[in-house]
Amino acid sequence: MTTEIKIQQARADMSGETRRRVFSGIQPSGDVQLGNYLGAIKGWADRQAEKENFFCIVDLHALTTPQDPDELRHQTRSLAAMLFAAGLDPDKSTIFIQSHVTAHAEGCWLLNCVTPVGWLERMTQFKEKADNQERVSTGLLDYPVLMAGDIILYDAHEVPVGEDQRQHVELARDIAQRFNRIYGDTFVVPEAVIPEIGGRVMGLNDPSVKMSKSFSHIRGHAVRLLDEPDEIDRSIKRAVTDNENEIRFSDDPERAGVNNLLGIYKVITDKTEAEVESDFADARGYGDLKKRVAEVVIEALTPIRERYNRLMGDVEELDRLLERGADQARAVADPKLDEVKHRMGLILPGRKG
Ligand code: TYM
Repeated sequence: MTTEIKIQQARADMSGETRRRVFSGIQPSGDVQLGNYLGAIKGWADRQAEKENFFCIVDLHALTTPQDPDELRHQTRSLAAMLFAAGLDPDKSTIFIQSHVTAHAEGCWLLNCVTPVGWLERMTQFKEKADNQERVSTGLLDYPVLMAGDIILYDAHEVPVGEDQRQHVELARDIAQRFNRIYGDTFVVPEAVIPEIGGRVMGLNDPSVKMSKSFSHIRGHAVRLLDEPDEIDRSIKRAVTDNENEIRFSDDPERAGVNNLLGIYKVITDKTEAEVESDFADARGYGDLKKRVAEVVIEALTPIRERYNRLMGDVEELDRLLERGADQARAVADPKLDEVKHRMGLILPGRKG
């Protein structure tokens, strides 16, 4: 548990609040990689007993970049299986597909009407993604409003994400605050919860860029969650390091590769920096470092891959679990959407006033 989360937990305990509500999401596009796992999914699974959790497979967000329809359907189920395999428990967390809960798309429209377009044009991810595309869809610009709606329709207190999503969660706060100012107190203002180290896992081939699903087809960039042990071993052994041959944490950009490998080891083993460095005190150079990092990664991912394969063998059961999640999510999001509509002056069917 990071210090930040411990403080929040202590505050919640003191204020007598029962359980804090958590919302997070992940896109079913590209291969899920170690950054997604260490920056987000592992933390969701590790802490799910403490909170009331909603984890969403954001298929509507995936549509903001071109997708093959059959492939998207496959990726959506595959991601669901991966989340269950990684330890998300349907008895402790609500796991669902975004498009199954129509309040998300409707909420996005309502929030669009209180969000200045300049706020969206400033988003770093929009600028980066737009730069790489010939034609930019309106959906890509509107992406953070859909994301804000995801979060605030559930009155989530905490949004556990990797560092790259910080700006989007800040925007969700701004939108919630603006709505509350215009229409009266309606939404909880959410906070991003970002792990200190796993929050930014870097590319193995280039530790100056974050590990990303979009580059996971590039040889040696990422460890994908479903990679076989020998593939994991090869990717990690190929990882870029430096000439220092010194195994310790460092914020020197020249040593980002070694720092990244140590960070991966630290998050997977749940050890402190001092414990990690002492684990490597007897190591003979970077060869040993890579070998041991590969070992702990393989040990962590093998059971996930095995559970995943079992779950994908029973798609009906998977769909049943997702339908249960959607029912639970609707029970929270639909009444909230009605409240928002009413505050904005829409007539709710069958309701006077
Ligand atoms: P997505 O699908 O890109 O990533 C899912 C989660 O993985 C984290 N992540 C990383 N963490 C550490 N190191 C990395 N290299 C790395 N790469 C990815 C991301 O920060 C994220 O937490 N817009 C979101 C999905 C979303 C969402 C939401 C999130 C939609 N609605 C509401 C939270 C709340 C996204 O595209 O994540």
